[in-house]
Amino acid sequence: MTTQSQSQQFYTLDQFKQAADAIRSQTDHRPEIALVLGSGLSPLADEITDANIIPYQDIPHFPHSGAPGHAGRLVIGKLGDKTVLVMQGRTHFYEGYSPQHITFPIRVMSVLGIKTLILTNAAGGVNRQFQAGDLMLITDHLNFVGMAGFHPLRGPNLDEFGPRFPSMTEPYNPELIGLAGEVAGQNNLSLRQGVYAYLAGPSFETPAEIRMLAALGADAVGMSTVPEAIIANHSGIRVLGISSITNVAVAAFGSGLETTHEEVLATGKTIVPRLMLLLKGILEKLP
Ligand code: HPA
Repeated sequence: MTTQSQSQQFYTLDQFKQAADAIRSQTDHRPEIALVLGSGLSPLADEITDANIIPYQDIPHFPHSGAPGHAGRLVIGKLGDKTVLVMQGRTHFYEGYSPQHITFPIRVMSVLGIKTLILTNAAGGVNRQFQAGDLMLITDHLNFVGMAGFHPLRGPNLDEFGPRFPSMTEPYNPELIGLAGEVAGQNNLSLRQGVYAYLAGPSFETPAEIRMLAALGADAVGMSTVPEAIIANHSGIRVLGISSITNVAVAAFGSGLETTHEEVLATGKTIVPRLMLLLKGILEKLP
């Protein structure tokens, strides 16, 4: 019997190619733009037309999730006038997968010729100005899980994807951030910008941890996105990161407030229409 925790630690170029071949054999679309949909944001994929749908379990070596609110399938088709590859649901470190397995799909995207990746997630607001329901463009991140040794690039470097020691000075593409800002302006959408702190979870943060994150410069906190952003950057894929602030993180002990997964999913749902408007506008402006 195999379990998720037995997921192979390092993958070979051949394994990424096998997965890419399996995807290519099931669709005639050849997308150059990919999207990853976070908690509660799955409904975005329902707008895709002319779609080929591939369950993750049908793709060799692909991680598949059991987390509630995370469907596990690729939806490849048209959104507006663009061909997109959408991951409806992602896997997380807290489920027992290695950082290398979580990011397996991103390298498959690279093999498939994806040039632009839009990562979405649900996040807790750490910045006191933020409110539940806000959208935040990620300008930078704090990779706490990577700093603790669980880095997605740990292991033999595959030079075919990128260098051993990649730069991370612009993990989120400034041009894409600018473009998202323009779209927000044109549609009267208010958009925050900030630093996303990546923690392993699955427990939400204690009030002291939230105060620590704020002191270290975090604006939002979550349990995903950063490993994917790093692997995409490594192979030269441009990344845009968008957080749905689904709750305000609790920074005071004894406040009587509590963060729950239900709240995260419910607020995520209310954000979907605005996120969809933003994403469609961005896609329109992409080459
Ligand atoms: N903390 C961590 N991850 C999250 C949160 C949070 O408050 N909200 C949504 N994802």
